[in-house]
Amino acid sequence: MSRFIAPSMLSCDFGKLSREVDMVNRSQADYIHLDIMDGVFVPNISFGFPVVSAIARESKKPLDAHLMIIEPDRYIENFSRMGISCLSIHYEASLHLHRSLQKIKSYGMKAGIALNPHTPASSLNDIIQEADFILVMSVNPGFGGQNFIENSYRKISRIKEIINNQNPGCMIEVDGGVTRENAPLLYDAGADILVAGNSVFGSEDPLKAIKQIKGV
Ligand code: DX5
Ligand code: ZN
Repeated sequence: MSRFIAPSMLSCDFGKLSREVDMVNRSQADYIHLDIMDGVFVPNISFGFPVVSAIARESKKPLDAHLMIIEPDRYIENFSRMGISCLSIHYEASLHLHRSLQKIKSYGMKAGIALNPHTPASSLNDIIQEADFILVMSVNPGFGGQNFIENSYRKISRIKEIINNQNPGCMIEVDGGVTRENAPLLYDAGADILVAGNSVFGSEDPLKAIKQIKGV
């Protein structure tokens, strides 16, 4: 079982983007998490390709892009050209999820399925074989700094069971409301990667916060 952490740039100071990426480069983070929002799938707009490419130029960590957008297929190729390593798309935004996951993998990226809090773990039964990772939303997508939804622990355990039975190599990423207090419980429940925005960038000492969440 892994204990990876992916700081989410959504909560960083975009006026000091270069310095923020440098901090993550120097940290024990395993990935950089990029939240892409279109104002349609979620009630917020974040950032697009110019910002992704600025981060990609400076990042020494693999990039993990989380697409909270409708019609994600239209942009898969662009994200691969930006140097994204892991690309997740939402179950709720995909009409032909099997095909979309194949497409992501055909560009050499890891393919992830993101699930909104209301989408049951059992939705994965006939598609888990195609996924490299599952992104479990533990808040409603759209904003950083929200409170963790407690039901997520149960959901993570159920997903872990499905993974153990059908695709043992598949990882679980948990996104939203992660803190250094709930991090050990989430890793215990079966999470491999924790996304953390506010608890890293809102902290006085982000390098220390990353270490604490990872538990090292
Ligand atoms: C929310 C995003 C998250 C967000 C997490 O829609 O997917 O990645 O940045 O932020 P925190 O850790 O502050 O909840
Ligand atoms: Zn995210």
